[in-house]
Amino acid sequence: MNLLVTAGPTREMIDPVRFLSNRSTGKMGFAVARAAACHGHNVRLVAGPVALPTPEGVTRIDVTSALDMLAAVEQNLGECDALVMSAAVADWRPCHTAAQKLKKSAMRPVIELEPNPDILKTIAPRKGKKIFVGFAAETENLQEEAQRKLAAKNLDLLVANDVSQPDAGFEVDTNRVIFFTPNNPPEHLPLMQKSEVAERIISWLTNKLLRQD
Ligand code: CTP
Repeated sequence: MNLLVTAGPTREMIDPVRFLSNRSTGKMGFAVARAAACHGHNVRLVAGPVALPTPEGVTRIDVTSALDMLAAVEQNLGECDALVMSAAVADWRPCHTAAQKLKKSAMRPVIELEPNPDILKTIAPRKGKKIFVGFAAETENLQEEAQRKLAAKNLDLLVANDVSQPDAGFEVDTNRVIFFTPNNPPEHLPLMQKSEVAERIISWLTNKLLRQD
């Protein structure tokens, strides 16, 4: 299959040295890209700013902001059979990015923000037969939020994790996830390495594409 994966955070620049971002390290998305390439799939990886090496056999496209990521996804969507959106896209960006480093004396204590586009919602009209996988990182009401996002973002699979647990989610090598699919009960996976979660996602995708043919 031709797979498009997004990974890592986005950075929303305030000035050349300051930004808004989040705790994502890109480990989960890179694991998905690596697992897919190991199985012989053709993988493009749109990566936010992360400190990870490119997995062997993967074509990497580096981006910084949510708008950059949207443009890269739109550019590479046409050829893909499946999209895995594991990136932690910043929901907001500063209304203005200063061209020069802001001096403390010139800074105001409030940064005005405007919303970033939702990438999955923006590309939804181009979905067709493509399989879309999303992620949800929650600290409360995980089941309700996961079901809401599965429907609102028109996803085939939503991989949800509780990031308030120390052994799951951000910055660690393990994850405890639940697979939500339309019209099926949620599937709870035990604590496992992110590489194993990635294998499960690739195997789910392969089965889904086989059933679709
Ligand atoms: N996502 C996206 N574009 C955004 C924000 C999120 O495509 N601007 C994708 C993520 O990559 C993920 C899914 O949507 O696959 C869910 O992201 P999440 O941050 O959990 O959801 P939000 O829509 O930001 O909802 P909320 O802030 O209400 O939790």
